[in-house]
Amino acid sequence: MKKIFALALACVMVLSLAACGGKSGGDLNTVEAGKLHMSTNAAFPPYEMTTDNGGFEGIDVEVAAAIAEKLGLELVVDDMGFDAALTAVQTGQSDIAMAGITVTDDRLEVMDFSDSYATGVQVVIVKEDSPAVQSIDDLASAAMIGTQKATTGYIYCSDTPENGGYGEDHVIAFDTGALAVMALVNGQVDAVVIDNEPAKSYVAENPGLMILDTEFAVEDYAIGFAKGNTALKDAVNAAMKDLKDDGTFQRIVDKYITAG
Ligand code: ARG
Repeated sequence: MKKIFALALACVMVLSLAACGGKSGGDLNTVEAGKLHMSTNAAFPPYEMTTDNGGFEGIDVEVAAAIAEKLGLELVVDDMGFDAALTAVQTGQSDIAMAGITVTDDRLEVMDFSDSYATGVQVVIVKEDSPAVQSIDDLASAAMIGTQKATTGYIYCSDTPENGGYGEDHVIAFDTGALAVMALVNGQVDAVVIDNEPAKSYVAENPGLMILDTEFAVEDYAIGFAKGNTALKDAVNAAMKDLKDDGTFQRIVDKYITAG
């Protein structure tokens, strides 16, 4: 009797390991045993934002939780500034950085990235009755462009005109996209360059704003890792593939982004 029970128990253990896709949390070296620390900047709807009761929600948060579950780990969200979220993973303070992060050549020099999981588009928000910026061509003559600090929107806009930017003197870096949008509403900047999904949500919340038709830049979002953390990167890529194959990923996206 005892033997049969032991055998059954062994089977259950084997099965639950297999359910983890081969890599269980125990095999992975994480910042804190049994946990997957995600550094993020939870001011970027619908990818990551805070809830009224102090929790976190959004596409990145739910996808990261599903990945963690597959790896047999518990997700811990560490909310900080966007630049800090990138640094945290590079310095081993967090296991993954997930914050609608665009893969760029400069970032690839200091961190590794997962396979891309979404497309981001840098768009331009202006006031509906904006005299200064009617089309993307007018950005060059805009007195001031608002962006979020350390984002690709800031990096592109503050670059020199020879490199397609407008120069640092014409760009203000705010701590969050929401503050950049508030500055637009108050007339402190003439336009805001930011990712399309948060742009949609800011425009929905602030009457009198609109998104220009022309896209400023098209980018890939991916999860960031410390350079050389290949074990975790491979495990996350495998988990993400499972979530895409079984429809979980799309279900999460559809919950936050309605088509059309
Ligand atoms: N995609 C842009 C970038 O990587 C902006 C991301 C900002 N994310 C955030 N959670 N605030 O630079």
